[in-house]
Amino acid sequence: MYQKLRPFIFKLEPEVAHSVVEYACKIALKIPTFLPCLANKFCFYDSLLEQKIDGMRFLNPIGLAAGFDKNATMIESLCAMGFSHLELGAVTPLAQSGNEKPRLWRHIQEESIQNAMGFNNDGANAVSARLDKCYPFVLPLGVNIGKNKATAQEDAIKDYITLAKVFSANTDYLSVNISSPNTPNLRDLQNETFVKELFSALCEVYKKPIYLKIAPDLEIDSALSLVESAINSGAKGIIATNTTLDYSLVANPKEKGGISGKVLAPKSREMLKQIATTLKTKQQKTTLISVGGIADAQEAYARIRLGANLIQVFSGIIFEGPSLLRRINSGLKNYLERDGFNHISEAVGVDL
Ligand SMILES: Cc1cc2nc3c(=O)[nH]c(=O)nc-3n(C[C@H](O)[C@H](O)[C@H](O)COP(=O)(O)O)c2cc1C
Repeated sequence: MYQKLRPFIFKLEPEVAHSVVEYACKIALKIPTFLPCLANKFCFYDSLLEQKIDGMRFLNPIGLAAGFDKNATMIESLCAMGFSHLELGAVTPLAQSGNEKPRLWRHIQEESIQNAMGFNNDGANAVSARLDKCYPFVLPLGVNIGKNKATAQEDAIKDYITLAKVFSANTDYLSVNISSPNTPNLRDLQNETFVKELFSALCEVYKKPIYLKIAPDLEIDSALSLVESAINSGAKGIIATNTTLDYSLVANPKEKGGISGKVLAPKSREMLKQIATTLKTKQQKTTLISVGGIADAQEAYARIRLGANLIQVFSGIIFEGPSLLRRINSGLKNYLERDGFNHISEAVGVDL
């Protein structure tokens, strides 16, 4: 069905298409029995895939990556599509409109997306008010937090602390975003000194898991030092990766923004492998969430075997539609059974 709809959806400007999806999600709430029907079609459950991680229960390993539901307006409908967790945001302390349009493009041949959104969102108070209405939710809900564009670099830490306080009672986890390429100089905060100070301060005010989301463009050694600093300062896990600024990956890159989707897969996979290998050597138990170019069960399974406890998707949903989740989950079950694993946790990191 989605493959038939896709040419029409792709005729729309990407941001318009996204608004249509958001509107459809809102309408879906008003049609009795629609969401249960949707869930019946899209959700896939098998105890083989269920895990308890950092105190949260994940019915399957696939979550929604940050950026799709920036304002927490689609939670119920996304849940009916079969995600195990939803990462909302990025949210900044104050509402902001983001970068100038156009700022979102499809690279259809490469099944990839380029975005220069720049943290457009309704702000912490508005998003928090929406979460207050549905929290606790049936799935773990995380919020991806970022600094306002107008906040001076030396005050960045205050923005993150404000956000951690606002979301302390209505989220299950936070993901710290200092890896977006679309806020000027944000990636400069990916340094050990800042990360240590940031996580030490955040852990004082937010008592649930906090993860660090990193860029795929870091040199491996810098990434590993950053990961170590974050973990030693209280981070429960790492989300690898955000979008890339490597424009050689697509035939016709735009001048700004980060690239996600299939072309990002090798970089994200390699980053995961390096981090997981290092953590294994040091016998550090850290949650690893792999994201970047995952669009089928084979790639998802490869990430799990390379050490991912969970995975997230974004671009894959745009190109494959919501049935992707069911396909990945049922495919994962088949791969696990084929390889003699009784539970997904047994496969985590076997290829390291
Ligand atoms: C339109 C768009 C907006 C995004 N916004 C955010 C964001 O606000 N915060 C964040 O951490 N990542 C954001 N991302 C990055 C995704 O969460 C994800 O890390 C990246 O797209 C790689 O996954 P994928 O290849 O499955 O798309 C965004 C990606 C896209 C395409």
